[in-house]
Amino acid sequence: MPSVSRPAPPVSQKNFRFRCIACGEISDAARQDFRCSACGDLLEITYPQWKEAKPDAQQLKAKWRERKLSHRQVDLSGVWRFRDLLPALDHDDHAVTLREGNTPLYALPRCAAITGVRLFAKHQGMNPTASFKDTGMTVAASFALLAGFRWVACASTGNTSASMAAYAARGGMRALVLVPEGKISWSKLSQALDYGAVTCQLRTDFDGCLKLLQDLVKRAPVYQLNSINPFRLEGQKTLAIELMEQLEWQTPDHIIVPGGNLGNSSAIGKALLEMRDLGLIATLPKVSVIQAEGANALVRTLREAGGKKLITVAAETRATAIRIGNPASWKKAAHVLQATGGACEQVSELEIAQAKAEIGAEGIGCEPASAVTLAGLKKLVKQGFVKPDETVVLVLTGNLLKDPDFTIDFHRGGMFGENQQAELLAPLRHPPIVLDATLDAVIRTLERFN
Ligand code: F0G
Repeated sequence: MPSVSRPAPPVSQKNFRFRCIACGEISDAARQDFRCSACGDLLEITYPQWKEAKPDAQQLKAKWRERKLSHRQVDLSGVWRFRDLLPALDHDDHAVTLREGNTPLYALPRCAAITGVRLFAKHQGMNPTASFKDTGMTVAASFALLAGFRWVACASTGNTSASMAAYAARGGMRALVLVPEGKISWSKLSQALDYGAVTCQLRTDFDGCLKLLQDLVKRAPVYQLNSINPFRLEGQKTLAIELMEQLEWQTPDHIIVPGGNLGNSSAIGKALLEMRDLGLIATLPKVSVIQAEGANALVRTLREAGGKKLITVAAETRATAIRIGNPASWKKAAHVLQATGGACEQVSELEIAQAKAEIGAEGIGCEPASAVTLAGLKKLVKQGFVKPDETVVLVLTGNLLKDPDFTIDFHRGGMFGENQQAELLAPLRHPPIVLDATLDAVIRTLERFN
């Protein structure tokens, strides 16, 4: 008779599976292109064990609060602090982290006065590389490393590439960046260069870059870190979890998100539905997606095709982060709009510039793509979709310093040429003043603005 018990049979440590969003096929592993092997649609991550052993909502809240006092790397991350609702790593110390998340929720009293609602901004531009991408990248980069990849790659309008390059560097991986030549902000590109990525400026648009990447991953052992990668969306879910914690688990009436490739709205919606199902929140906020008029694929898809098939567009907008005409995650985002009862709107270049300046006047800098949220809110209020005194959270996705050229052009007055409507924005413009270096000149200027 053996004196020691036999070791337990090896069990999979994995707490998640992949599920196809179209045919529902469940799988243990994903292909390099993150598409369903049965029908070719996108995958999402699912947690089957929640059905048998549902995590206790009160215990989760207490655990997440407790971790705020910890100094472990994994707890200092505003993403991994919520790891109970994320795919599990083999070891907590294997998270590739830059202390992402932990972003502020600001009240916006002046914009609230303009719109007549209770207004907050969740500022994801306060992440380590200054955009919301970091919350997803920490999870996806950690799994790239775990899977043993040497190379990671993305197509990008700038922020994904900056974030991916940083996390690849932290994890000791090589990064390949594909960006549309001349169509992204140099500030974002400078980040990728500094973090050591191999940066290719392709003579095409974002959609062309993404298509090329999809082909590349079928031929080369590179791990793609676009938001087609479902691990990215799991990390980005934590925006919504952290937001609910900051609001003491009282759901706002509306969350308003910019829409580009439509990964972020999908992630936020997934988090809300999961939190509702786990009893962490009692009601769902309406998640609304706002696009630039010149990059309005989802708006048109819903209005002209009833959300049944994607209408692609040739995208053009100075909000280059969302200059996307063939959004990969459109089906996921359409589902979120339908499940939460949200709206989808579009805003003009002028409305974006005005909203950005109005947010700036609150002492909060965001990039143009983020400002579509305030511009969209104004429209939704006018339409009666958002009601007076409702609580609204705008998701500010990137920092002002991501695209300084836009801000400078706006304030110096070069943005809209002779457009008469643009004259209405004059009170929001604060161009720099060149003066002789005399006390008199400065005092006269002070008096002029008094
Ligand atoms: N806001 C900013 C600042 C962005 O960088 C992006 C997307 C979005 C909004 C739209 O988010 O794609 O999840 O709907 N930027 C990507 C990039 C595409 O490559 O940096 P989405």
